[in-house]
Amino acid sequence: MKAEDFILKNYNSSVESGSVKWESPSNIALIKYWGKKENQIPENPSISFTLSNCKTITKLTYTKKETKDFSFDLYFEGKQNEAFKPKIQTFFERIETYVPFLRDYHFKIETSNTFPHSSGIASSASGMSALALCLMSIEVDLGADYTSEYFNKKASFLARLGSGSACRSIEGELVVWGQNESAESSDLYGIKFDGEVHSNFNNYQDTILLVDKGEKQVSSTVGHKLMYGHPFAQQRFAQAHENLAKLKAVLASGDLQSFVKIVESEALTLHAMMMTSMPYFILMKPNTLEIINKIWKHREENNSNVCFTLDAGANVHVLYPENEKESVLNFIKKELAVFCQNGHFITDVVGKGAQLIKK
Ligand code: DP6
Repeated sequence: MKAEDFILKNYNSSVESGSVKWESPSNIALIKYWGKKENQIPENPSISFTLSNCKTITKLTYTKKETKDFSFDLYFEGKQNEAFKPKIQTFFERIETYVPFLRDYHFKIETSNTFPHSSGIASSASGMSALALCLMSIEVDLGADYTSEYFNKKASFLARLGSGSACRSIEGELVVWGQNESAESSDLYGIKFDGEVHSNFNNYQDTILLVDKGEKQVSSTVGHKLMYGHPFAQQRFAQAHENLAKLKAVLASGDLQSFVKIVESEALTLHAMMMTSMPYFILMKPNTLEIINKIWKHREENNSNVCFTLDAGANVHVLYPENEKESVLNFIKKELAVFCQNGHFITDVVGKGAQLIKK
């Protein structure tokens, strides 16, 4: 599909008001998106596990207005919030062509997260996907008649324009975004991974260790830009393609040892790109490294398949199969929680994607 296919052409302009509500999860990339072109087009394909417990709940109320500007109020966890407004304004500007009724209504956006505020967990994926889904439901309220396939694709397309990784939060349990050898995949939206997945990956566990809850020194948006002219950029983009092909085979075979190698290498490569860009920066903290070393030692000594991945921050996602749930949770409580701020971690599991909340 092309971007033009996502332009809403006809809608019922006599609808005065209404409200819609969605909850949408965060996701954790196994093959990382790092580096983008114009219009939020990724430099390389990525694949992620959709999560279950870490999610954003957003209610969008719309009321017809006369003026022709963008008009919205944002409430975060019950309180009016100005800080997030510029991001939403940019989002509206980017998607206006595809969602032409944006200037016809005043929007009240009421949003909250299930994970603690400023936990360092990326909320842009869950937040932008929830908002994109609400806009799609308004399209339906205004008379659009969509198949669920088109609905999800356009929701993902819009979410991508809010935040790249958000396009992988609409569905579960594995989502691929970015052109690769599979004919179905696209740079414009994420699609549910349609390859074979071994039962070893059923209910895969993700415990998020909150090493640093503070604001990051360098945002992802700035980090992506530093891939322009990066000395290792082209090799990195090629490597992501190779790793995706390898990971697909591993997902089918259930080979957990190979899974661990690909996933950890992707996480460290992401951070290596940050350390070798100009200007260079480091988002890992001493406790991030303590945790990584403990995970390696535990894996070695217990014949375990526990592994880690990182997103653009200091927190560690500990990934492990369901049959190691008890032992790894004990290990986390006994040996890793001390490296978390206030001992704080969040247990999560791979999930099926966003859900409409019925009024
Ligand atoms: C390291 O999606 O947050 O988490 O498109 O600028 O909003 P923008 O960036 P964002 O980048 C996320 C990068 C990552 C890897 C990943 O999720 O694939």
